Amino acid sequence: MPPKGRIIWVAGPAVRADGMMGAKMYETVYVGEERLIGEIIKLTGDIAFIQVYENTSGLKPGEPVIATGLPLSVALGPGMIGSVYDGVQRPLDRIAEVSRSGFIRRGIQVDPLPRDKKWRFTPTVKKGDEVGPNDIIGTVKETPLIETRIMVPPDTKPGKITDIAGEGEYTIEDVIATVETKEGRTELKLYHRWPVRRARPFKSRLNPEVPLITGQRVIDTFFPMAKGGTGCIPGAFGTGKTVTLHQLAKWSDAKVIFHIGCGERGNEESEVLTKFPELTDPATGRPLMERTVLIANTSNMPVAAREASIYTGVTMAEFYRDMGYDVLLVADSTSRWAEALREISGRLEEMPAEEGYPSYLASRLAEFYERAGRVNTLGNPPRVGSVTLVGAVSPPGGDFTEPVTTHTMRFIRTFWALDANLAYTRHYPAINWITSYSAYVETVSKWWHSDVSQEWLELRHEAYRLLQREEELLEIVRLLGPEALPDEEKLILDVARMIREGYLQQSAYDEVDAYCPPSKQVKLLRLFVKFHKLAEEALRRGVQLSSIRTLPIIPRMIRAKYEVRNDALHEIDELERSIEESFKKLATEAPVSA
Ligand SMILES: Nc1ncnc2c1ncn2[C@@H]1O[C@H](COP(=O)(O)OP(=O)(O)O)[C@@H](O)[C@H]1O
Ligand SMILES: [Mg+2]
Repeated sequence: MPPKGRIIWVAGPAVRADGMMGAKMYETVYVGEERLIGEIIKLTGDIAFIQVYENTSGLKPGEPVIATGLPLSVALGPGMIGSVYDGVQRPLDRIAEVSRSGFIRRGIQVDPLPRDKKWRFTPTVKKGDEVGPNDIIGTVKETPLIETRIMVPPDTKPGKITDIAGEGEYTIEDVIATVETKEGRTELKLYHRWPVRRARPFKSRLNPEVPLITGQRVIDTFFPMAKGGTGCIPGAFGTGKTVTLHQLAKWSDAKVIFHIGCGERGNEESEVLTKFPELTDPATGRPLMERTVLIANTSNMPVAAREASIYTGVTMAEFYRDMGYDVLLVADSTSRWAEALREISGRLEEMPAEEGYPSYLASRLAEFYERAGRVNTLGNPPRVGSVTLVGAVSPPGGDFTEPVTTHTMRFIRTFWALDANLAYTRHYPAINWITSYSAYVETVSKWWHSDVSQEWLELRHEAYRLLQREEELLEIVRLLGPEALPDEEKLILDVARMIREGYLQQSAYDEVDAYCPPSKQVKLLRLFVKFHKLAEEALRRGVQLSSIRTLPIIPRMIRAKYEVRNDALHEIDELERSIEESFKKLATEAPVSA
């Protein structure tokens, strides 16, 4: 029998209970007469420290605490896609329905997955087949965009199928298969549960060699993300974290998208909740929600649910990874998540570390980001899936030396630093190309070279070098004035500006430019690199810099990103030929100096 204790102390979302001998860490408990859901986050002797996922006002010492014997877990099965959940997988619309008011009533038990909905199940195994952990035994068309693969739960022992449902309509509670294992018979349903704080097992990790194509040039070309990679996007308020994450959610070549929202402002989360259902999936024209799950932590929800939300999210993401899909999870913003951690820790009167955050802030962040990866999944048939994790960070005052940013930087491999000055001058995305980095440039280059263009890495390095040279040269200009530079360095400033305006800047709101396919990225970049090379040669032959600067081809190059439609890329090739012709003409017109 799981222990039954008594509340001895309540402070906001934190509760202490005694009489809890025998309870386990991270065990789920029912707190108080109203049976609020809580989780044990610390145990000393028979005293349990509990974080409660619901509003605790009115809760009093003496009320009962009942351990469930089970860790905090999520239900994994059809019905998840398109849902909007709170941090402990309670569907917001169904809570609202049950409590019949806009507000979330406490102690409400709602099913995370619809219980009466019938799904068309198609078995892919037959009676007598041997199955093991994570083997696929059938499929369900969860939405027009997602086929859910029904898997043997990863913690089931191998065994023989003694019974399998025929093709037909079943609810998640119907038994669809029976497996005879050494330990007895196990009945399988369309769903199973998995604890959120335990990573789902996989066979082996793969190298981060496949880029996650986002269609955002500064990301894909300069600071690429890999499928199964980790990244963070820190920035002060208003620099573009949310817009960038939405661009990733909409355009990335991931199959399933998870969006965890911890709103910075009160209305920001409700904005997400109204905006996402209106978005369409660019590849199919269907609603984006047919391949998206939203987890929303609005400011009126208890902080403990916010703390749990990133683990809830990543566990659900791993489930789709296990099916053999590429999953992208974005969290906006992890700073609000860290604040929840800080608040609960404070209520428990733990010794604070930097800026009041608990000493385990770093290890918690590590536990989250470690769950990213591109893997050979467990189970038959063999498949490869990935979970890519990207967290926004909102450091107070945009100061990247604060604890959440610095600790996050230890665990991520791609860093997209948003810059308030760039945002101020309306250079969007305001990703600073000097302070940002990606550890995946070399690893994804093979993909670019075989799938898009052999020139990718070389063009990227050359353009990047020009941008870095610009930074150094601007420093000299600041000290000595522009006239101090020789013409070939002035040319670098010109070309770098062209790259910034014609390549790095990309409007999320332009019909054409919102998404830039990989082949267009390479073709555009080649324009600028080629221009620089030809202009340099021209200077050497005595052509005046002023004649180069006034070439009418320049504004056309800068506008190509939105003037050339994504299905008319031959126009960029034509533009490239025009650049060559412009320089040929300059050469014949220019007086050749000695
Ligand atoms: N890629 C972009 N294209 C166009 N505008 C952008 C882009 N990124 C950011 N912006 C502008 O910046 C504003 C603030 O961005 P937002 O993502 O809400 O900032 P944050 O989440 O960092 O507070 C947006 O409303 C938009 O006008
Ligand atoms: Mg935001």
